[in-house]
Amino acid sequence: MKVSNSPFSGLVGIHNFNAGPSILPKEVFEQASRSILDFNNSGLSILEIGHRTPLFEAVMEEARSTVRELMQLDIDHEVLFLHGGATTQFMQIPMNLLNENDIAAYTETGTWAGKAIKEAKLFGHVEIVGSSKESNHTTIPKNISASPTSAYLHITTNETIAGTQWHNLPYDRGVPLVADMSSDILSRQLDFNKFDLIYAGAQKNMGAAGVNLVVVNKNILGKVTRTIPTILDYRNHIKESSMLNTPPVFSVYVAMLTLRWLKNKGGVATIEKENDAKAKLFYDTLDSLPVFKGPVAREDRSKMNAVFVMEDTSLEKEFAELCKQEGMYGIKGHRSVGGFRVSMYNALTIESVIVLTDLMKEFAKQHG
Ligand SMILES: Cc1ncc(COP(=O)(O)O)c(C=O)c1O
Repeated sequence: MKVSNSPFSGLVGIHNFNAGPSILPKEVFEQASRSILDFNNSGLSILEIGHRTPLFEAVMEEARSTVRELMQLDIDHEVLFLHGGATTQFMQIPMNLLNENDIAAYTETGTWAGKAIKEAKLFGHVEIVGSSKESNHTTIPKNISASPTSAYLHITTNETIAGTQWHNLPYDRGVPLVADMSSDILSRQLDFNKFDLIYAGAQKNMGAAGVNLVVVNKNILGKVTRTIPTILDYRNHIKESSMLNTPPVFSVYVAMLTLRWLKNKGGVATIEKENDAKAKLFYDTLDSLPVFKGPVAREDRSKMNAVFVMEDTSLEKEFAELCKQEGMYGIKGHRSVGGFRVSMYNALTIESVIVLTDLMKEFAKQHG
């Protein structure tokens, strides 16, 4: 690894483009490490305090209220921090919202949507109302329409592997809107109250692995006829203020610190501007260099996960090696698609993108 004097990342000279778990703000790492030794001058570690102590209750309260504030949620929307990763939500959602003989509308935009669809089929019927399969998931489906009798419409706002993102959200389709926002949560301004259920694993834009954010409109709950196990029924978590059982204490704490960082920075509007600037720099560079190719349709490109390949695939190894030498981590494409993937989550600074794009330009000059 090359160690330069770059002041930009957690460790000097490191640029972390990992897709998740991924880069978090340096001050979050620093505060979290201090709290492992002594949490808020209590003399105790954050890892050893009871979750029902005022010390931890304040953490959970701040995490929930900061989400509420950052998303400007109305009183119908509840904020929960739950166990199990976004994958648990793939089944918990249909279990709570889809009766056995009813239909849920799903959009099929890649690996993650596919997994959500597979789980929903365990609980009821699924209608695919939009698919990007034909374009090999390089596009986002347009003109989707869900039947008014659908239990809900599910979208994956950002497909982490394919590198696509919904830019025109399917609001107001007359059925509850459910969204997997795992890889673009709180990265851009959306009308969050138009969603009836939002879920996201924390480990990309919001914290450490081990906790899920779930924002749910309480009015859509309690409509299925099946018996739901206690721990999987959202209503029980709402009743218990997200403390039905021992929460993943440390992951909630790291999420709270990351949310606090985002709020202090100016909130979602501020981070959106930064994310737009990073994405623009990256894609402008990509489009200007014929040696690289972006497979995703321009209007559907993700601002969080940019995928690219090389015109001459035999050069990919050399480029990957160069990136490694320059302290860039996590730029290898997902094992299912190959090529490269650059994740530009909230905590990644534009300086890391400058270092990467400068290297791309230099590489293109040598191989042009
Ligand atoms: C869009 C999306 N949904 C769901 C998941 C699964 O999340 P988890 O590993 O937390 O279950 C991921 C993981 O990368 C993802 O990117």
